[in-house]
Amino acid sequence: MQYAKRLDLIPPYLFGEIARMKAKAIEEGRDLIDLGIGDPDQPTPQIIIDKLAEAAKDPVTHRYDETECGWPMFLESVGRWYKKRFGVDICPKTEAVLLIGSKEGLVHFAWAMVDPGDVVLVPDPAYTAYKMATLLAGGEPVVMPLLEENGFLPDLTAIPSDVAHKAKVMYLNYPNNPTGAIATVDFFRDVVAFAKEYDIAVCHDCAYSEVFYEDYRPPSFLKAEGAKDVGIEMHSLSKTYNMTGWRIGMAVGNSELIRALNKLKSNVDSRQFPAIDIAAAHALEHVDNAETLALYRKRRDILVEGLNKLGWEVKKPLASLYVWAKIPSGYTSAEFVKTLLQDAGVLAIPGNGYGQYGEGYIRMSLTVSGDKDGERVHEAVQRIAKHIKF
Ligand SMILES: Cc1ncc(COP(=O)(O)O)c(C=O)c1O
Repeated sequence: MQYAKRLDLIPPYLFGEIARMKAKAIEEGRDLIDLGIGDPDQPTPQIIIDKLAEAAKDPVTHRYDETECGWPMFLESVGRWYKKRFGVDICPKTEAVLLIGSKEGLVHFAWAMVDPGDVVLVPDPAYTAYKMATLLAGGEPVVMPLLEENGFLPDLTAIPSDVAHKAKVMYLNYPNNPTGAIATVDFFRDVVAFAKEYDIAVCHDCAYSEVFYEDYRPPSFLKAEGAKDVGIEMHSLSKTYNMTGWRIGMAVGNSELIRALNKLKSNVDSRQFPAIDIAAAHALEHVDNAETLALYRKRRDILVEGLNKLGWEVKKPLASLYVWAKIPSGYTSAEFVKTLLQDAGVLAIPGNGYGQYGEGYIRMSLTVSGDKDGERVHEAVQRIAKHIKF
């Protein structure tokens, strides 16, 4: 059987060997502390589950969602939430579309926008979906390096003007996976000016906007003046409310881009179970998930302060689920992750899995299964102290 050639564009799975080593360690009965995957380990708040159960009893939710852009009650909640949280006006009828998780929207956006040969500006290191979606749509991803000296923001002035002229789409993501970096509205203003100059559609992935610490609150890209002229923003309920398995998110912003995305989507999916939309609307209006954030913060402090005491200079992220750490010299990212796993029984993700500019770093996630109050993270630090020399 011959599958489509576009599948050959997808590089081999970089985490494959790590996954095999993890499976082997578990098979051998080793006690592994998993700082790998960024999947909230806490349950979805009960109030959201109760709302789902209630909505599931209503036969109106048992049928296809045949509305224009998604269950109106959800989109109206999105509009109110945007105003309250970011001070941004969103018209629920024309500037918002329901997604089956933000990954779905991010990938379909490339399909809605990119013709074969079109240039797409993608950050590196980054969540892999931007680049893969570009390749699958026949586009040409051009990397914007996210360097530590620039606060892991792309240097827009370093993008050659002939590349910028060819670019059709730019993906961005703040709070950032994997670096934990944040962006200011000033930076977003620069992005808007750049996008206007070169006629580029901006897709800002804001999946981690509600995972923040202390008094910091990540801004919306749409807060920058003129952002709605050039772009859209994707959100997810996955990380905000421990709902990764539920599959719900939204895209908001420029009405023409929203319409294009919705046109594509309406031909490839029929949305999710509407009871999920009703429960999600309730979450946006009534739930803050502060308890989970307090737990992540505790884990972050134990991890970063513990590693700093060992002489490993690692910064505390102000948002996101990730601690992005420069590895000690003498290792590649993959070698260091292997050493951590084999010697210390601690699993992290090698930075090169997120792109070439991730080499030299590892990502440690604050979503630690089996950790009730930071004790597993504490144990991870103890093990690293015992096995790794800095
Ligand atoms: C940066 C980023 N964007 C989007 C997603 C996708 O989230 P979901 O599809 O669950 O909304 C993830 C998931 O890990 C992510 O890290």
